[in-house]
Amino acid sequence: MPITVLVTGGTGFISGWTIVELLKRGYTVRTTIRSLGKASWVRTQISTQVDPGDRLSFAVADLTNDDGWDTARRGLRLCASCRRPGWRRCAARPQRPDHPNA
Ligand SMILES: NC(=O)c1ccc[n+]([C@@H]2O[C@H](COP(=O)([O-])OP(=O)(O)OC[C@H]3O[C@@H](n4cnc5c(N)ncnc54)[C@H](OP(=O)(O)O)[C@@H]3O)[C@@H](O)[C@H]2O)c1
Repeated sequence: MPITVLVTGGTGFISGWTIVELLKRGYTVRTTIRSLGKASWVRTQISTQVDPGDRLSFAVADLTNDDGWDTARRGLRLCASCRRPGWRRCAARPQRPDHPNA
């Protein structure tokens, strides 16, 4: 049975490439997003690099409060945190026009 890794901030640049690499290496990924409406965009972006099949799932959680994290991390032992509160968006990287936050 594949190991599942929790990746925070699924819509992000670093998290996106982390998800791609984990899927390529055979892991299953659960990623947090702040709104379920962003899930299809994330899946579409990931699918341009690797077929996630049924190995990519989503959980809603915001790092500024505790809601959703118990569900997001349930049954998991590994977490890749790609968002740290206090860090700011990387100014040198322009926002993609099709990004859900654009
Ligand atoms: N890219 C680089 O070269 C680089 C270099 C050094 C450091 N960093 C730092 O690494 C972090 C990730 O970089 P990135 O380029 O991947 O940033 P990014 O594309 O802006 O992604 C940030 C991610 O964090 C999520 N997020 C923001 N606030 C959140 C909150 N309160 N709770 C949960 N998720 C939250 C965003 O979700 P939403 O879609 O919901 O907003 C988004 O998925 C950033 O903090 C950045 O400053 C980046």
